[in-house]
Formats: sequence, structure tokens, C-alpha cells
Amino acid sequence: MTAHSTSLKIGDKVVDLPVKEGSIGPAVVDIGKLYAQTGMFTYDPGFTSTAACESKITYIDGDEGVLLYRGYPIEQLAEHGDFLETCYLLLYGELPTPTQKSDFDYRVTRHTMVHEQMMRFFQGFRRDAHPMAVMVASVGALSAFYHDSTDISDPYQRMVASMRMIAKMPTLAAMAYKYSIGQPFVYPKNDLDYTSNFLRMCFAVPCEEYKVNPVLSRALDRIFILHADHEQNASTSTVRLAGSSGANPFACIAAGIACLWGPAHGGANEAALQMLQEIGTVDRIPEYIKRAKDKNDPFRLMGFGHRVYKNYDPRAKIMQKTCHEVLGELGIKDDPLLDVAMELERIALKDEYFVEKKLYPNIDFYSGITLKAMGFPTDMFTVLFALARTVGWIAQWKEMIEDPGQRIGRPRQLYTGETRRDYTPMAQRK
Ligand code: SDX
Repeated sequence: MTAHSTSLKIGDKVVDLPVKEGSIGPAVVDIGKLYAQTGMFTYDPGFTSTAACESKITYIDGDEGVLLYRGYPIEQLAEHGDFLETCYLLLYGELPTPTQKSDFDYRVTRHTMVHEQMMRFFQGFRRDAHPMAVMVASVGALSAFYHDSTDISDPYQRMVASMRMIAKMPTLAAMAYKYSIGQPFVYPKNDLDYTSNFLRMCFAVPCEEYKVNPVLSRALDRIFILHADHEQNASTSTVRLAGSSGANPFACIAAGIACLWGPAHGGANEAALQMLQEIGTVDRIPEYIKRAKDKNDPFRLMGFGHRVYKNYDPRAKIMQKTCHEVLGELGIKDDPLLDVAMELERIALKDEYFVEKKLYPNIDFYSGITLKAMGFPTDMFTVLFALARTVGWIAQWKEMIEDPGQRIGRPRQLYTGETRRDYTPMAQRK
């Protein structure tokens, strides 16, 4: 990392601040000593211009619509690789050799079962609990079952916790789904690949053999690749901040799941499908476009816009292609939701409001239609996002923990509240 410096004039004071260049992307001004030198903080509540860390994992060029995992374009990984290969790449920085891949698959496969008492943990939920509420709780509860992998200072325990998280998320996600529909839990099978195992745990019933559709399994595996990591998004930043205090990895991932649930973030896939269902037919699109542009209307086009992508989200393009592939495989000729989505995208991309604000479909715009066609209920969409993103959260958490300069994250503030004042006894209050 090459460095030079820049100067900042504040009042009659000039301070020199180091500038650090990355391998690609924007350089950064290191303001770590700004407060000591000037008594002032920087102010950037939405972190629109703030790099919170240095990372080697994922690179996004929002203007060019580029997404690289460890330097590899998402389009190539989605086309040629599988999800566990992407997990290995994100965790260790290189594509695995054939031996490394089969060893990694073997290790993940043999961590897919959860402690039998987790079943009882689920019994405490109402059947109509949102599966994301169940995931936040059950993932957090893993730290109550797996004490032998919560010491984050031990590299071996960090590796075991990472394997356990990646391996057990599909099992817990399938359990959350089965519990919500009152069907018995299905145990993982070691002779199935990661995503086929997940599909079987979700859709198999004891009364008959379940045959995995290889086209759907491949499509869902690709969807997991698209969702695996995305630089310092809100939920990843949550995991890093939680991890910076030394909290165990299960608790950190639970915090990430909680943040992802929001409709502005991972909850957008559920919200986008609900929006398409509310619009219902193509002729109602203009009314909703008008609402999305109305400053006084809180309605937004869910699945549109992005903090970083000011060009088409490269994942959305692959998602759209996968959507057509899945609908074709399932013989769904004319899905009204897809018609509405395609027409909504066509109109929005020509509308000067969306063009001027650089609002394009993001990964959440087409994912809901695809997952619904596969048989997942809407409230499971963000659970699938969390399942896939777990490897990204773990890789970013691991990178932070292994950074020798790592410190607890503790932002400051601009205080605009009351200045000092004395307590008024109750008898004197009017
Ligand atoms: C994900 O960060 C990541 O990498 C996230 C993610 C990942 O992989 O981790 O990519 C996953 O979260 C994708 C985003 C999913 N969210 C949605 O689809 C929800 C709808 N989109 C928006 O809420 C919004 O676009 C955000 C939250 C995604 C981005 O918000 P920003 O960057 O804070 O942008 P903004 O809210 O300041 O919007 C800029 C302008 C505003 O208008 P002005 O105040 O400038 O006049 O664009 C408008 C907004 O009103 N705008 C929209 C809009 N999104 C932004 N107007 C209508 N519909 C929208 N969807």
C-alpha cells in the first residue's frame, strides 16, 4: 500500500494527513490522528465517504457495475464455480485445488447436523414467528451449545466456529421453515452437495423419497454465490463492530442477521416481492412509479437503488437470467409477477427521476420471483440471503480478528443536546 500525505487547513492550523492508496479503487485519507491534532471529529452518519477498514476480500466499483471476490469477477464465479468453492475463496483468498476443495466439502458436510437439543429450542417459538426472528435467536443460541469454539484468540477454534457456521446455517434455515409449516425436521444427508442438502431438508417429507431437481439446485447454488459477500455493507459492518469487542462468532453472526433483516437491506427481497404483488398488474405500474418519486410518500421501489452501485448491479443481471432459467425449468410460462417486474424495470430505466438518481435494479429485485417459483414462502427470502451471506460475514470477521492492528470500534458523535444543568426536585416541577 503506497502512501503520501495531504494537508487540511482548519482555522489558522494546517495538519498533514497520510493518504493511503489501495490496489484498486479510491485512496483514503487517514484521519486517525485528526482529533488529537485539531480537537475536531469528521462527520459522516451514513458512512457515504468513510472507509471503516482495510480489506482484501471483496471489491465493488459502483460506477462500472463491477464486483470481485478476491479479484475474481462475480460473473465468472457464478458461471463456473459452486458455492462451497466461493466459500473457500472468500475465507482463504485463493481458489482451492481439487484436493483442497474435496477436503473443504468433506469438513463442511460433516458439520451440518445441529445439537439435538436445538430441536427443543425451536419448540419455544410460535408457529407463525417470522423465520428471521427464529434465525437471529437460534444462531445466537449456538454459542450456548458449542463452547469449544468460542475462544476467538485460538486460531483452531476460529476455524471450527467458521466451519460450523457455514455448515449449520442451511440446517437451521430449513428447520425454521419446517417449524413454520408444522412439518417434521429433516436431517442433513452426507451424500448430497451443500445446496441439494438444503433443498431436501426444506422440501422432503417422511412419507416419500425426495428427488432433488439438479437445475433448481444449480440455480440456488448460483444465487448463494451472488449473495456471499459485498464489502462493508450494513450487516457486515455490524458483524465487524460486534466482533471488535471480542464477542464470539455465533453472537456476531446473529447481530449480522438482525441487521440484514431490515427492508432497506436484505429484507428488500421480501419487500420487493410484496411490492410486485401489491402492484399486481402492468397497468398499475405508473401509479407506483409516481408514488416512488413523490417526496411526501414514504413508498420506494423495493429492489431498486443502491448505496454503491450507480450502474446496474452485476448480480441483478445474473439473477434475472437465473429467474428465467428457473421459471423455464418449472414450466411457468407467464408469471404475472415477472411481467410486472420486467415492465417496471423497463419504465423505471427510462424515467428521468431514476436515471438522474442512478437507480437500477439491485440483487433483491428478481430474487423473490425466483425463490417463490422454487417453493419458498416470502418470509424465507431473507433467511436464504442470510444463509449465503454467512460466509462473507465470517470471512470479514476472520480478517478483522487476524489484523494485528485491530481495536474495538468506538465512533464518536456531534452532540447537539442540552448543556449542563442541575437536577430539579420533584416538588419544584410544575
Ligand atoms: C442490499 O450495501 C450493500 O452492499 C447492500 C447489498 C448487499 O449485498 O449487502 O447490496 C444488499 O441491501 C441491496 C439494497 C436493497 N434495498 C432496497 O432495494 C430498498 C430500496 N432502496 C433504497 O431504500 C435505497 O436505494 C438504498 C437503501 C438501497 C440505498 O440508500 P442510500 O444510498 O442511502 O440512497 P438514498 O436513500 O439517499 O437515495 C438517494 C435518492 C433519494 O432521493 P433524494 O433524497 O436525493 O431526492 O434516491 C432516492 C431517495 O429518495 N431513492 C429512491 C429509491 N432508492 C433511493 N427512490 C425511489 N425508490 C427507491 N428504491
